[in-house]
Amino acid sequence: MGITGILTTIALILTTAGSGWAEKFHGGHTGACEGCHGSRGADTNYTSLLGPDPSSTCLRCHGAPNPQAHQIATEPAPARGLAPKAMTPGGDFAYVKKNYSWVNTNGTGGSSPGERHGHNIVAAAYGYVGDSTLHVSPGGSYPAQSLSCISCHDPHGNYRLVDVYGTIATDINPIGESGSYGAVPTANGAVGSYRLLAGKGYQAGGTSHVFAHDPPIAVAPKEYNRPESGRDTRVAYGKGVSKWCANCHEAFLQGSSMSHVHPSDAELGPIAGVYNNYIKSGDLSGIQANAYTSLVPFQTTETTDPQQLAAELTSSNGPNPDDRVTCLSCHRAHASGWDGIGRWNMKGTFITVGGEYPGIDAGGKGKEGENSTGKLRTEYKAAMYNRDPAQFATFQRQLCNKCHARD
Ligand code: HEC
Ligand code: HEC
Ligand code: HEC
Ligand code: HEC
Ligand code: HEC
Ligand code: HEC
Repeated sequence: MGITGILTTIALILTTAGSGWAEKFHGGHTGACEGCHGSRGADTNYTSLLGPDPSSTCLRCHGAPNPQAHQIATEPAPARGLAPKAMTPGGDFAYVKKNYSWVNTNGTGGSSPGERHGHNIVAAAYGYVGDSTLHVSPGGSYPAQSLSCISCHDPHGNYRLVDVYGTIATDINPIGESGSYGAVPTANGAVGSYRLLAGKGYQAGGTSHVFAHDPPIAVAPKEYNRPESGRDTRVAYGKGVSKWCANCHEAFLQGSSMSHVHPSDAELGPIAGVYNNYIKSGDLSGIQANAYTSLVPFQTTETTDPQQLAAELTSSNGPNPDDRVTCLSCHRAHASGWDGIGRWNMKGTFITVGGEYPGIDAGGKGKEGENSTGKLRTEYKAAMYNRDPAQFATFQRQLCNKCHARD
């Protein structure tokens, strides 16, 4: 097949809409070599890429003006006053290009710069540049100027789950399908690692940094890029979430030594009961069966069986005492509308004011910079994945309270 034929095939594959996308290119491992390396005629060793760098190569397919399914970057980034559109568990990278600023009623100003909103991947063809203030991963030493999609995802998808006990390997059993949607490995067929994430021994392009921890075991629903106005998009996280982040943020795993603001990978214990009772500020009348929110997800104990995790996707059950708080309980993996890649605005006092989201076009305390973060109310709502503000209290405080109920 010539290059035109290949491109037509790829184009055909990519016009399939919605959850029909699942597994059409990588299929849980790498994908057609030509999809990233181009025609072999020009390059017999696969040493060149279709983009000027790895992330630019990924964004050819993973960025779009109206991102669907696996597209995780609104491209080009929306103009001032408009919000990025992807609503995936990982989040839309365009937030790292969105700079917000405001003037408070007392005349003081503030800002929430784009580079605070996410992992600043370097992608020259799309205007993504490395972080200018954090030169290495906080709590670790990963160089910010080398951060790209392949710092975290193995482009060749070599890591695989070979059994239901959490064994990850790179060289046993071929990968039959994606490991992100609940497929179970068999005696002679593995499934890919969750989201093609890299594991132990991985050394990404151009750095001497080596991963010490394997990818987490987790299961996502097939439809995962959607507004959460009606129902939440629940990812069932199993074993290894916080340890995986600690591949680059090594010191933050020992939260109790106060190297980070909060412990991770700790069992919830009695806090599970608080989570289950908490509905909103001032309302602790909830029950476990309705308690889940994707704004504060948790890890299901040390579960490694994808089938067991898949059973949770449609549940709204809150946690049990042996479930765990993880880095992803508070942060997203890619980017968000908030500083520190928060799942919610971790800097302000209020998440709703008088029953509405804050915003520079709101009144009262909703207009104050720490609450509005410089966004219009429509932008704020989009950063909350279009949730109805009526889900919260009239004056809703920080979601730390979902676990601590100090409001
Ligand atoms: C030719 C288009 C194309 C390119 C280039 C591409 N992807 Fe993808 N990617 C897709 C499609 C289509 C899907 C959804 C179907 C699938 O998973 O195969 C996807 C899915 C994914 C997923 C989810 C897979 C899963 O099983 O959960 C990840 C992670 C991902 N891509 C990362 C990357 C990274 C990193 C790069 C660059 C090194 C990249 N992709 C390059 C088309 C592409
Ligand atoms: C710092 C590590 C990191 C970087 C950098 C990164 N990813 Fe991810 N990505 C993750 C993790 C972790 C998840 C799983 C998120 C979850 O389920 O909560 C994920 C999820 C995804 C998904 C599934 C959809 C979603 O957002 O949940 C796709 C597709 C994807 N990544 C592609 C990419 C591409 C393309 C790039 C570069 C433009 C990239 N990632 C950069 C860690 C990373
Ligand atoms: C491959 C290395 C790598 C991995 C894995 C990684 N990070 Fe990072 N992270 C970095 C680097 C480098 C920075 C600093 C540069 C930047 O923010 O763009 C950073 C910055 C951050 C920040 C600060 C953002 C800000 O600007 O305030 C948060 C929060 C964060 N990471 C959370 C996570 C979480 C959660 C995970 C696991 C899902 C994770 N990281 C996995 C490399 C990594
Ligand atoms: C999803 C995108 C993607 C696909 C599909 C892909 N590659 Fe790659 N490949 C990359 C990236 C990105 C690099 C650069 C890695 C780096 O800088 O460390 C790379 C590097 C390589 C290298 C250089 C050595 C190395 O491993 O770093 C070889 C050889 C290679 N690829 C072969 C292949 C072959 C053969 C296929 C098809 C089976 C393939 N690739 C499919 C993205 C891809
Ligand atoms: C209970 C919530 C919570 C958990 C769990 C959590 N964090 Fe954080 N993290 C925060 C808050 C709050 C901040 C400060 C955010 C801000 O205001 O910018 C923060 C900041 C960060 C920063 C930026 C620090 C800096 O010096 O710039 C990084 C990096 C980070 N977290 C990574 C992680 C990693 C990795 C884990 C898991 C090992 C983790 N976090 C677990 C709440 C949490
Ligand atoms: C998913 C539930 C969860 C969320 C959300 C959460 N916490 Fe916690 N928090 C815990 C657990 C569990 C512990 C006890 C950890 C342990 O056993 O050491 C804890 C402990 C603490 C402690 C005691 C510190 C220590 O070192 O023991 C403080 C303070 C705290 N949390 C503050 C916060 C703040 C501030 C936020 C919001 C940014 C937050 N928490 C969000 C679950 C949570």
